[in-house]
Amino acid sequence: MIEANGSPALTFRRVSKIYDQVSGDGRFALRDVSFSIPSGEKIAVMGRSGSGKSTLLHLAAGIDVPSRGEVLISDRNLGTLSERARTLLRRREIGLIFQFFYLLPHLSVGDNVALPEWIAGSSPSEFKGRVSELLERVGLLDRQNDNIEKLSGGETQRVAICRALLRKPRLLLADEPTGNLDDENSELVMNLMLELASSEGSTLVYVTHSQELASLADQVWHLHSGALEAS
Ligand SMILES: Nc1ncnc2c1ncn2[C@@H]1O[C@H](COP(=O)(O)OP(=O)(O)OP(=O)(O)O)[C@@H](O)[C@H]1O
Ligand SMILES: [Mg+2]
Repeated sequence: MIEANGSPALTFRRVSKIYDQVSGDGRFALRDVSFSIPSGEKIAVMGRSGSGKSTLLHLAAGIDVPSRGEVLISDRNLGTLSERARTLLRRREIGLIFQFFYLLPHLSVGDNVALPEWIAGSSPSEFKGRVSELLERVGLLDRQNDNIEKLSGGETQRVAICRALLRKPRLLLADEPTGNLDDENSELVMNLMLELASSEGSTLVYVTHSQELASLADQVWHLHSGALEAS
């Protein structure tokens, strides 16, 4: 069991995720995983393909539910919430970044960043300043009105980071955020993500296959066939 001091942003208590298989017993995607991450901490998660990294992030985000055990976001047990309540909590408190961006192709850079606020029903005057502030931080303010499809891979991921941070999430979860970028852009994007998470006070959990990018975190965790080890 990996324990941490301070008030935890994210806690797993003996969490397992078991998928049904066509034949034989279920397959453990996560096996008895326990940890608590103090607020503001940065954790890199490494492990071979299929070791359970994405599963861990999906459970942390409440996108999926554990087969056994409990997941808590700032002391709130996701297992006690309805799917609707989990979705609302995710929108309010969690920022998600994926390898393939998931931005909307026909919208501008600024509108892609603003999307979570549009969904929340806010009016543009409430979030315009925040969108500009974030785009400025990642060096893309002058691209605000461009169509997102004009941007390079590295630029697109910087937009995705802005969108994830828009509502000042307490917890930022990133699944191979630089998996689609070259080395130079990977480092730039990763540094920006770490810097922004620090200045915004977000707790960050990111999956990476790069030892170098993992070493930028406060702790590096390794998953082996669904079981967690710290290093
Ligand atoms: N919906 C699902 N149904 C059945 N098995 C699944 C499902 N999702 C994941 N798995 C299995 O759970 C295990 C862990 O998958 P997961 O996606 O978490 O791995 P990962 O570490 O993120 O791998 P990668 O580095 O390839 O992204 C794998 O064996 C995978 O096949
Ligand atoms: Mg994965």
